[in-house]
Amino acid sequence: MPLRVRLTLWYGSTLSLVLIIFSVVLYSVTARSLRDEIDQALEETATAAVRSLEERGFLPLLDEDSLLSQFPELARIDKFFQIFSPSGTITIRSPNIKQHELPLSRTALDASIAGKTIFESARYPKEPPLRLISMPIMYRGSLLYIVQVGTSMKSIEDTLQRLLLVLIVTMPIALAVSLASGWFLAGRALRPVDAITLAAQRIAAGDLSQRLTVSTSPDEIGRLVHTFNDMIGRLDVSFRQIRQFSSDASHELRTPLTVMKGETELVLRRPRPLGDYQAVLESNLEEIDRMTHIVDELLFLSRADMGEVKMDALPVELESLVEDVHRQATLLGQDRQIDVELGTMMPAAVQGDELRLRELVLNLVENAIKYSHPGGKVQISLVTEGTQARLSVTDQGIGIAPEEQRRIFNRFYRTDAARGHTKKGTGLGLAICTWIAESHKGRIEVTSQPGIGSTFTVTLPLAPQAA
Ligand SMILES: Nc1ncnc2c1ncn2[C@@H]1O[C@H](COP(=O)(O)OP(=O)(O)OP(=O)(O)O)[C@@H](O)[C@H]1O
Ligand SMILES: [Mg+2]
Repeated sequence: MPLRVRLTLWYGSTLSLVLIIFSVVLYSVTARSLRDEIDQALEETATAAVRSLEERGFLPLLDEDSLLSQFPELARIDKFFQIFSPSGTITIRSPNIKQHELPLSRTALDASIAGKTIFESARYPKEPPLRLISMPIMYRGSLLYIVQVGTSMKSIEDTLQRLLLVLIVTMPIALAVSLASGWFLAGRALRPVDAITLAAQRIAAGDLSQRLTVSTSPDEIGRLVHTFNDMIGRLDVSFRQIRQFSSDASHELRTPLTVMKGETELVLRRPRPLGDYQAVLESNLEEIDRMTHIVDELLFLSRADMGEVKMDALPVELESLVEDVHRQATLLGQDRQIDVELGTMMPAAVQGDELRLRELVLNLVENAIKYSHPGGKVQISLVTEGTQARLSVTDQGIGIAPEEQRRIFNRFYRTDAARGHTKKGTGLGLAICTWIAESHKGRIEVTSQPGIGSTFTVTLPLAPQAA
């Protein structure tokens, strides 16, 4: 069942229930207070009559005329009057009752004998119902007379009937009007949902560049649209990245293959001295090494993506790790007259995987050497700051333009300056470093100025006991 129908039905049934309860309450409260009013008027009249009889010392009963002059309201057709003897026989009655015999009921008699006032309702065929009060007149503990005052409930009945009619007529109208407006409002509120569904269908059909433009207001729908657009945006980015990644990966693997194929074809074209074959095989081996390196790194990254790379969580002394890497790097730097030195060093213990952290530091130092000019200087330093260890690698090399500083952490991304500077490199090193840093709950940042140098800083949380 469509949401719009369900909402309207819910709304309609709740509203009907409320209307019905409201009408029942209204009707019964009105009926009740009208009856109370009548009872009160009856009681006042009866009390006045009794008092007047008592004042006259219960003298032989008044005749009708003096009775009516005493209580002018009795002459009004809506009230009548009867006085009974203790045995229940009528002794006197007001004229406006003449057409009916209205004997004293058993209950009224019993109550009067017990000295109690009692209200009763009576009904005769084809007549409006009557309301009666029977009030005893007692003298020294014994019953003298019973005064009964009655009135027709016709006006009440009429009022109640009119009220009922009004309710019966207006309730369905009110219900119909509010159902119609409920239907309209539900439709209005749900219209953006339809639009969202349509747009989502288009997007699901493969067009990830689509965005929803339904609503920009900060309400529920607006938030839904916003969240949805964010989600599509992220999907779009990651699909693009995946496509980019595969095309980059194939490209990177293709270059060494082309080189190998070209060299091999060339050397096979005619018989050559043994040394030529050897040279080609050696060059091929180099390319094979390069491809193996790429494939290894790709494999590592894809296993890391799938969460299959296991990481130790052991205490690692960063200071000695950096000193080790420094020794290794000094050798690497020697070929290109690059001086690798240690700056400020502080003891720092973190929790993690020593091999991966070594790989991280080595990658950064290798980059620093690789992208330095001959005779340049690379500095590694390690400081602690609060609960963090900060390891930085600074070089005086080619630097990175500001707009490229974020993208160098992407897989296969290499700056043009870097490509011009050295052929070596696949652009996967920093992606691996980022992954290692993040899986140690740390991060890598870069500050750099083209032509002046770069500083890569790794921030890692210190191991708890050291903090
Ligand atoms: N110290 C640095 N100075 C200048 N540019 C750098 C530096 N380190 C990294 N870069 C830039 O970031 C890019 C990505 O670095 P990354 O280490 O990921 O790849 P790579 O060094 O080119 O190849 P490899 O995967 O072999 O490490 C580099 O190609 C280079 O453009
Ligand atoms: Mg590198």
